[in-house]
Amino acid sequence: MRIKNICCIGAGYVGGPSMAIIAKYCPDIQVNVVDINPQRIAQWNDKLLSNLPIYEPGLDKIIQKCRNKNLHFSNNIKQQIENADMIFISVNTPTKLKGIGAGQAIDLRYVEASSREISKYAKGHTIVVEKSTLPVKTAQTIKDILDATTKKNISDNKTFSVLSNPEFLAEGTAIKDLENPDRVLIGGEDRIAIDALVEIYSKWIDKNKVMTTDLWSSELSKLIANAFLAQRISSINTISALCEATGAQIKDVALAVGMDKRIGRYFLNSGPGFGGSCFKKDISNLVYISNHYGLFEVANYWQKVLDINSWQQERFVELIVKKMFGTISSKTIAILGFSFKANTNDTRESPAIYISKKLIEEGAFLKIYDPKVTNQQIELDLQVDNQKNLNKNWIFCESIYDVFEKADAAVFITEWQEFEHLDWLKISNIMIKPSWIFDTRSIVNIEKVKESNLNIWQVGYGY
Ligand code: UDX
Ligand code: UDX
Repeated sequence: MRIKNICCIGAGYVGGPSMAIIAKYCPDIQVNVVDINPQRIAQWNDKLLSNLPIYEPGLDKIIQKCRNKNLHFSNNIKQQIENADMIFISVNTPTKLKGIGAGQAIDLRYVEASSREISKYAKGHTIVVEKSTLPVKTAQTIKDILDATTKKNISDNKTFSVLSNPEFLAEGTAIKDLENPDRVLIGGEDRIAIDALVEIYSKWIDKNKVMTTDLWSSELSKLIANAFLAQRISSINTISALCEATGAQIKDVALAVGMDKRIGRYFLNSGPGFGGSCFKKDISNLVYISNHYGLFEVANYWQKVLDINSWQQERFVELIVKKMFGTISSKTIAILGFSFKANTNDTRESPAIYISKKLIEEGAFLKIYDPKVTNQQIELDLQVDNQKNLNKNWIFCESIYDVFEKADAAVFITEWQEFEHLDWLKISNIMIKPSWIFDTRSIVNIEKVKESNLNIWQVGYGY
């Protein structure tokens, strides 16, 4: 089966970049990305590439090359579903906020809604591909919805194959990850559908890197890959506290441990805890599934990974208050970086949100700087607790040195590269004395900071 027309439902951090790459490497395929959000589509279609809804290094060049040629963004969901031979579901799958499994289970309402749209509008044979990270057995839900319509409208001649093809890209390196992935995973039962998807990936990826499994193994593998990655971060973060207490250096410990090939050197940077849209949501879901199957020890084990993540952020706030003579009331604190990691404008589950809110609650006034996150986004992130008037206690700074002006302390939360080379003498001259630098990412040069008459605390740096 040769695919000529692809539709992707969900023009987000996953749908946008992954479809852009298919369009780049498969010029014979028309790729249509659709979304229920008209504003998001307008941003994808904006002539000014700096207005794209997501910031990803290298993405703008691909959009410029392919947009309106074989890559299209629209709200025309019905028509693009009708035209498609293959449909990717890439909608968001948040944690349920209420009802059974609230706070842990995944809310499948958007996946279900997308499946219903597909069942209504698809024509002929359509391959439906799950791209979103989903609980095990979601493919069955999608199949059940699609099968129900096929049975009802036998005269329509509609048929469907469902595949699982989880996306492993990390934000900030999405284009690199998509162009050169460690593996591509395809789960399914229909060989013809699997081969059609393998054929697409083989346009730029070695076929040896494409692994095929059954549907459930594919769905579970994605969840577990995220859980293992998050677990490494919680592990190294517990050791950062131990280093601070004993006088060891986390960077050296991580390097020495990671040089063992069986452990590996990646993903061992201690910091303010993991953020992003996936890790917390996916581990919560793993805990929920394990409890559901009566595997309580398994559930408790993974719950600890989440607990350590929260604890790391709580202990940072306590530490900041303690170092600043036990009170930050009426003191000004600079926040450097608001995105959950460098090279993205995404703030979902960013440690900066928790830390900022807590510092404000303790009475501090914040000056916030981030090279890619907008003032409006920070407003949305901090106004959840509007009744506490958090918004009145912070301002957004457009330029990096403004943020230090008359500040008592500065907290580095995101590892943006521009934070590595700052003029510490200039900073020291504009901060209030005694001034504190709190580096939660181990990115600033300790010696230079100390030489500039500033106090410094760095994660995992024992004295
Ligand atoms: C999301 C999930 O968080 C992740 O688990 C999954 O692997 C992929 O989808 P992301 O792309 O980062 O990741 O989400 P987001 O940027 O929120 O994009 C989802 C898009 O789907 C939004 O633009 C939303 O408007 C759209 N959407 C949602 C639809 O088009 N239809 C719907 O019914 C629901
Ligand atoms: C993650 C997975 O890496 C990716 O495979 C999956 O598809 C989606 O979830 P993402 O959340 O975009 O990707 O970024 P990632 O680089 O994994 O970082 C997640 C969080 O962990 C960030 O807050 C990051 O700062 C933190 N992190 C990462 C550390 O604190 N230390 C590290 O060594 C690595």
